[in-house]
Amino acid sequence: MANNDDQFKKVISHAKEYGYVFQSSEIYDGLSAVYDYAQNGAELKKNIRDYWWKAMVQMHDNIVGIDAAIFMHPTTWKASGHVDAFNDPLIDNKDSKKRYRADVLVEDYCAKIETKIDKEVAKAEKRFGDAFNKQEFITTNQRVLGYQEKIDTILSRLAKSLENEDLADVKALIEELEIADPLTGSRNWTDVKQFNLMFGTKLGASAESAMDLYLRPETAQGIFVNFLNVQKTGRMKIPFGIAQTGKAFRNEIVARQFIFRMREFEQMEMQFFIKPGTQKEWFDYWKDTRLKWHKSLGLGEDNYRFHDHEKLAHYADAATDIEFKFPFGFKELEGIHSRTDFDLKQHEEYSGKKLQYFDHEEGKSYVPYVLETSIGLDRMFLAVFSNALVEEELEDGSKRDVLKLPAVLAPTKAAILPLVRKDEALTNMAKAIVDDLKWDFNVFYDEKDAVGKRYRRQDAAGTPFCITVDGESLEDNTVTIRHRDTMEQKRVKVSELRDIIKKEVDVREWLMKM
Ligand code: GAP
Repeated sequence: MANNDDQFKKVISHAKEYGYVFQSSEIYDGLSAVYDYAQNGAELKKNIRDYWWKAMVQMHDNIVGIDAAIFMHPTTWKASGHVDAFNDPLIDNKDSKKRYRADVLVEDYCAKIETKIDKEVAKAEKRFGDAFNKQEFITTNQRVLGYQEKIDTILSRLAKSLENEDLADVKALIEELEIADPLTGSRNWTDVKQFNLMFGTKLGASAESAMDLYLRPETAQGIFVNFLNVQKTGRMKIPFGIAQTGKAFRNEIVARQFIFRMREFEQMEMQFFIKPGTQKEWFDYWKDTRLKWHKSLGLGEDNYRFHDHEKLAHYADAATDIEFKFPFGFKELEGIHSRTDFDLKQHEEYSGKKLQYFDHEEGKSYVPYVLETSIGLDRMFLAVFSNALVEEELEDGSKRDVLKLPAVLAPTKAAILPLVRKDEALTNMAKAIVDDLKWDFNVFYDEKDAVGKRYRRQDAAGTPFCITVDGESLEDNTVTIRHRDTMEQKRVKVSELRDIIKKEVDVREWLMKM
């Protein structure tokens, strides 16, 4: 079994080999932390986006979707607090000249302790077999408790120092823990400094008249500034939501872990406008609803956990992350934030325009509170993709790589394969099936190589079905349909194909599991 590092490397190379993700500008040796989605990746990404949009917008009659511009008036970012407070604490290593996020160095240190806990659990699981009770073990085993206490102490000190802007203490913590540069082992650190993550650019042709702009670091502000426009034109009644998906940009100090942390990425965000005082109830509702959405995809119940924030962002009165077990450990996948009335009030103040809602039931106007759900599309892609890639040993001792993507998200739903390339009757029949099925699904025609090799290729590319046309097909209009995960083959009528595929890939079937 590959270790986590090897597994992650395999994920990255598989993503390239099967046309999912390429390094951006690769012919010029790439651009750090910027990636391009290839032919299969673009489809997978689109399917994830659609799955989110359908669940959030189409299935909620009180949520509508918008598509705001990336460029926004620069005052937006002053009002939102990003100009003054959207910073990460950075630290440089004087020997290697490498720059790191100070908080990430500490978090990675804790992740290593967590690996020790995982090892203790795995050892005990082996020892006790079926009688093993994980929950009991981690709450009573002295060694595990010791490790956990160490993690908690470190993280709560880090949270406190960051909250108080006590950057000297963050550096002291790094020194006390003897954290070294991961690349060189050097402990020769500079002081910790704050670094603003927004990218600046200019609007306008001449140097004198050009206006300084920022590339948006989150899509949320496009929703806030349009709150009243949407509420009025859509005659929306509180509680209601506005959703959007789109690009966001952050000049991340530590951009690594493939598409987990990028400088240009895509968010899927929803702001839910509510009556002040109801935020706790909606916070719980959206925590529950969003977790159910994740779980509907069947990536494994144990692969999720909530992480409640100790250090709250400048706009929040409660916040939690849905963390997912990536190949490099549990990390944030989605954020759920109770943003109070911070953003709307700030925009009222900076724009001089009222951003209030008249509540007919209450008989008064107020600035609504906001509950936000915010998920990175690229991170979701990585969660789905890395979870799907498995190596299986077959009965004959051979191995196969299979990308067990949820069928609803798979880029290609079925590959149509004539058994023999040289038989024109077979290829014609296979092409006719492609021409018919492509009205409903993304399908792929492949006639090259032996059929076994073609199956393997489709398994590795994540295609849920292979449909093979053979001599018998010409006689009775039947084909074999092979399932990617079970490798089971069934003889079915060509006229049944559409319904068989639809049953497995239909969004309704998947979202009904929520
Ligand atoms: N509007 C709130 C907001 O932007 P956030 O926690 O900073 O909150 C939300 O970001 C989500 O966006 C994260 O949970 C993550 O999935 C994604 N995200 C943030 N920064 C990212 C980056 N540099 N690369 C990829 N995804 C990122």
